Amino acid sequence: MKKKLIIAIDGPSGAGKSTLSKALAKRFDYLNIDTGAMYRSVALLAQRGGIDPDDEDALKKLCSDLSIKFIRGPESEQVIVNGADVSAEIRTPEVSLWTAQVAACQAVREAMVKLQREMGEGGGVVLEGRDIGTVVFPYADVKFFLLASAAERGRRRYEELREKGAVVDLEQTIVEVEARDAADMERTHAPLTQAEDAIVIDSTYLTIDDVLERMASVVRRKVAQLSD
Ligand code: DC
Repeated sequence: MKKKLIIAIDGPSGAGKSTLSKALAKRFDYLNIDTGAMYRSVALLAQRGGIDPDDEDALKKLCSDLSIKFIRGPESEQVIVNGADVSAEIRTPEVSLWTAQVAACQAVREAMVKLQREMGEGGGVVLEGRDIGTVVFPYADVKFFLLASAAERGRRRYEELREKGAVVDLEQTIVEVEARDAADMERTHAPLTQAEDAIVIDSTYLTIDDVLERMASVVRRKVAQLSD
């Protein structure tokens, strides 16, 4: 029987993790688990509940009553938090800012890692985040670490914002990407690090399709190897 794998995708923001994680999950009919969306959901609830993002006890309590589910929609997954679809609300710039703070809290990370393990342990999942191959599933069947230069990631983000009609400055966007990298890599708990056994793909000069085909061929080989 074909084994259903646990696939981990980590890397800095703007390296193409979300797009590729969704595409890879679709290709193999796996569930895509966007772990950033989980940290974003905690931030949204904290914001709604008037909880200070530095208040570890209040955040811990919030996480203990939390239910997060991913439902496969026609195009992408819906994020259902305590029964309500928050897929759009968790993407606002305000929630993004709170998320970086909330994601640095150890109690929040412990609660999210526990949920991620429960969701993923049966296999048939692609999990995308910063600490999947190092902390959440160090024994994942396949680990990818996606990279692209800060200038290229800034340019992609700049184009994405411009398409949405925002007035943005390219240099400023690159500076912001570098600042997010520093925050992700320098935090005390589960900073962004590359797992030793991760397959590194630098997409600076590659298209999404090129990267997807490389990833899919690695996964196919692994499935064949484990199904022998
Ligand atoms: O991937 P994203 O931009 O949706 O992530 C939102 C925030 O959550 C970002 O500040 C990084 C953080 N994050 C994390 O600390 N660990 C993860 N596994 C996923 C995201």
